[in-house]
Amino acid sequence: MPFNFQKLRSEFPALHQKINKRPLVYLDNAATTQKPRAVIERLTQYYNSENSNIHRGAHFLSQQATLAYEEARKTTQMFINAAFDHEVLFTRGTTEAINLVAHSFFKKFVKQGDEIIVSAMEHHSNIVPWQIACENHGATLKVIPMDDRGVLDMEAYRQLLNEKTRLVAVTHVSNALGTINPVKEIINTAHKFDVPVLIDGAQALSHMKVDVQELDCDFYCFSGHKIYGPMGVGVLYGKEEWLNQMPPYQGGGEMIKEVTFEKTTFNELPFKFEAGTPNVGDVLGMEAAMRFISYLRMDEIAAHEKDLLQYGMQQLKTLDNIRFIGTAPEKTSVISFIFNDIHPYDTGTILDKLGIAVRTGHHCAQPVMDYFGVPGTVRASFAIYNTRDEIDILVEGLKKVREMFG
Ligand SMILES: Cc1ncc(COP(=O)(O)O)c(C=O)c1O
Repeated sequence: MPFNFQKLRSEFPALHQKINKRPLVYLDNAATTQKPRAVIERLTQYYNSENSNIHRGAHFLSQQATLAYEEARKTTQMFINAAFDHEVLFTRGTTEAINLVAHSFFKKFVKQGDEIIVSAMEHHSNIVPWQIACENHGATLKVIPMDDRGVLDMEAYRQLLNEKTRLVAVTHVSNALGTINPVKEIINTAHKFDVPVLIDGAQALSHMKVDVQELDCDFYCFSGHKIYGPMGVGVLYGKEEWLNQMPPYQGGGEMIKEVTFEKTTFNELPFKFEAGTPNVGDVLGMEAAMRFISYLRMDEIAAHEKDLLQYGMQQLKTLDNIRFIGTAPEKTSVISFIFNDIHPYDTGTILDKLGIAVRTGHHCAQPVMDYFGVPGTVRASFAIYNTRDEIDILVEGLKKVREMFG
């Protein structure tokens, strides 16, 4: 079936509103995506008729909610092609997933003098948890450098790996630059040193199919809200062999087998890592988002977004005095730029008056901004529902910004 673009767009109620008396042009998708009706309705349905605490109840609603929650785990397993459903842990998002590994993996496997490798283009969520853990355990953080296009230096990466390296943690796609990293190669190289790899997939899954077995990554993290699902929910995929060896992250209900005041024994996977009442409603909303993406065809999403990226670059280049930050040959539909030396915040504020939502600032990637010597950028990031017309509106908007500040 051909890609029915108008129908797809009509599935997202939030897109059809006016902001500052103009039709909303939503180009802040790397920060969060808008939600399709299927996700909103799933949340409503859960709270209208299914809400109950899971796993512990003998009554009907509890059993139904438990079934639905565990079914969502299976849907997630299929979505990323994990080998087992117990390798899928539900978290509050990518940030919590990374913190979980930083805490538990370090406790078991990292000692004084060990090294962790991240890259120069990480989101703060894939830097700070490692920094905290390194400080606690006397380990050191090493950084894979990048070039002026925002491409990782793979030779430098190879040279960083050694017998002291305990883990590599790299983003699949940079939120600030759009760069798609060669994660398969990064993983293969680390595995030659028997080093496990965590991939931060927050910016990847809405743009491409991810197969964790094919990648052979040891951990993969993502957030529901970046894939058209709810906020405050996400996934940590971990290989069974690692998760089984890692101690629990948090203590509480659900993650135990037996508790006495003397000793507690822990539950098996995945429950060992899901302490307390989980966010059942949002897990089901995220499941609806995965089904929604799976129903669309990933090749059609990719082709549409590629067209938006190419058209966007072409049109923005017609403006004088625009500096693009992040020009890697392999990119998702993210365009970061500085316009006319105007402060990104001022550009963003004027664009907002015209109904255009872009992100401005450091994008939680201050080391990237430092590398390029800028305080921040304007970032337009496109999703499946964006159009070429919206890019034209952005370009016209920027001309108005220049009139005011130029
Ligand atoms: C690459 C990357 N990693 C991690 C995160 C953190 O995601 P969350 O705030 O949903 O935990 C983000 C969010 O922008 C991101 O873009």
